[in-house]
Amino acid sequence: MKRVYNDINLASRNSFGVVQHASTLVEFDSAEELRDIFAELNPAQWYVLGEGNNTLFTRDYAGLLITPVARGREILSEDDTVVRVRVAAGENWDEFVAWCVERELWGVENLSAIPSSVGAAPVQNIGAYGAEVKDVICVVEYFDVATSEVVRLSNADCEFSYRESCFKHALRGRAIILAVEFELSKIARPNLGYGDVIAEVEKRGGATLRNIREAICDIRSSKLPDPKVLGNAGSFFKNPVVEREVADALSQRYGDMPRYDVPADSSKVKLAAGWLIDRSGLKGYRDGSVGVHERQALVLVNHGGATGGDVLRLADMVCRTVKEKFGVDISPEVNIL
Ligand code: EPU
Repeated sequence: MKRVYNDINLASRNSFGVVQHASTLVEFDSAEELRDIFAELNPAQWYVLGEGNNTLFTRDYAGLLITPVARGREILSEDDTVVRVRVAAGENWDEFVAWCVERELWGVENLSAIPSSVGAAPVQNIGAYGAEVKDVICVVEYFDVATSEVVRLSNADCEFSYRESCFKHALRGRAIILAVEFELSKIARPNLGYGDVIAEVEKRGGATLRNIREAICDIRSSKLPDPKVLGNAGSFFKNPVVEREVADALSQRYGDMPRYDVPADSSKVKLAAGWLIDRSGLKGYRDGSVGVHERQALVLVNHGGATGGDVLRLADMVCRTVKEKFGVDISPEVNIL
């Protein structure tokens, strides 16, 4: 059911825990409610705020914040090998992963414990431990604000790439995601190639869905701060993609620099922003209420009482320092409002 909040404090609705206000926030369940909301409020500016895990508010928000709260998971079809499931945008991502693991459905286990709502997952194509959500999405259904119609977009039309989709570009300011349809596998297909995953899974007795989920949750909690304890938005920066010659020159100088091929483009190489920030001497750096996390340099944290502006100033300093030391531009993955 639709709920409207006026002059709302956003502290509990953003994982950085910064105190900013929005003039209006509306929670909605359905496309019909969205039609009413846009007809009644005709907002000059709006933004979809899911669980607020990837948004940094640097000022009070004067427009309309729109939060999907619809719940529901429905099995659409099933055969011997695959199950197609429709999940409402307001579902919590990790509860969905747990649901899949309980039912022995493969495909999302490496994405365990990512703080997100289901509706936010396709927007930045959430990814971790060698998996991306694009690999299991078949359809994204959204409300088109320009036409008031419900549109179903196939995976190919979502223009997914590393931390990107059309929802951040062509459909920005136009689409509000209502539900996502996933295709999950009944056939085991463990994806254990990333970092310590295989060792952690073996330690637990082998590649079952439960063991993989447990291993990923443990790896994450050993490296990444819990936003309920220490405000943060996971990786603040994207890993930069550079020309191969730039990566080769850096590798000559820094023999231990991590680098990853970009399957779609052999002229490019992806570097690890966390390593670049760490090797710039900034891991664990603290400036008053903000800092760079001591165990994962990709993560900026609010030690308590920081404003969005404080986080942004730190982010700018980190980008400048990495640019000066390595000549590489890194850019935020977090949406900055
Ligand atoms: N590294 C350092 N110092 C650091 C951090 C990393 O030297 O402080 C090095 C690591 O040793 C490793 C390399 O940099 O050689 C890459 O680090 P890591 O494996 O921790 O992964 P990442 O590239 O830093 C990405 C995602 C994470 C995801 C992990 C695991 C991005 C921007 N981040 O991090 O996603 O959990 O891989 O798959 O792609 C998120 O999006 O919020 C997030 C946490």
